[in-house]
Amino acid sequence: MPALRIEGYVIVSADGMLANADGVMPDELKFEGDKKFFTAALDRADLIVHGRNSYEDQPNSPLRTRIIVTRRIGAVAPDPSNPKATLWNPAGAAFEAACDVAGVRSGTVAIIGGPSVFGMFMDRYDTFWLSQAPRVRLPGGEPCFPGVPERSPQEVLAAHGLKAGDAQILDPADGVSVTPWRRAA
Ligand SMILES: NC(=O)c1ccc[n+]([C@@H]2O[C@H](COP(=O)([O-])OP(=O)(O)OC[C@H]3O[C@@H](n4cnc5c(N)ncnc54)[C@H](OP(=O)(O)O)[C@@H]3O)[C@@H](O)[C@H]2O)c1
Repeated sequence: MPALRIEGYVIVSADGMLANADGVMPDELKFEGDKKFFTAALDRADLIVHGRNSYEDQPNSPLRTRIIVTRRIGAVAPDPSNPKATLWNPAGAAFEAACDVAGVRSGTVAIIGGPSVFGMFMDRYDTFWLSQAPRVRLPGGEPCFPGVPERSPQEVLAAHGLKAGDAQILDPADGVSVTPWRRAA
């Protein structure tokens, strides 16, 4: 069994977007129930991975060990501005090398975006937690994964060997739910 368990987290609009046409995650895509779910998951994770613009901005953020994906360095290096962060350029080093520098060799890794970072791990997720806001549309927005909107986010996950489990309602008034997409054993 691999030492690292890889989980993905995103909330998407009905049209499969994670941000609006300005590249910003708008308030209309932020919901209390989903925020609680996401916060609890990140509090449990041993490591968080995200692109330079996808920090989660929560009270516990400074406590979390993280890898920040960037082309500003050649391979892997500690982040001079954050003792809990490691900078990683996937063109220069394997993910495991970045985990080593981050000091994480086992446990749960939470991948939290953006789209290109989600795409990098498509064949490695044990579970991808897809939150959906069915009443929000973000025309011209930023698609959540490479390959969207030509295909739906669900079609992309299925094409990478993941299967949908039971959805859980997070924000009943807005119809927001989360569905675990798990890799078949
Ligand atoms: N709805 C949600 O659940 C959700 C989830 C995640 C993000 N978002 C939103 O989406 C927007 C951010 O998206 P974004 O497109 O800017 O993505 P991002 O991945 O957060 O940031 C892009 C930056 O990450 C680095 N990067 C990404 N892919 C890389 C690669 N393959 N190799 C090396 N470096 C790479 C680059 O940093 P350098 O420029 O330093 O080289 C790039 O400029 C934000 O508004 C965020 O709030 C929403």
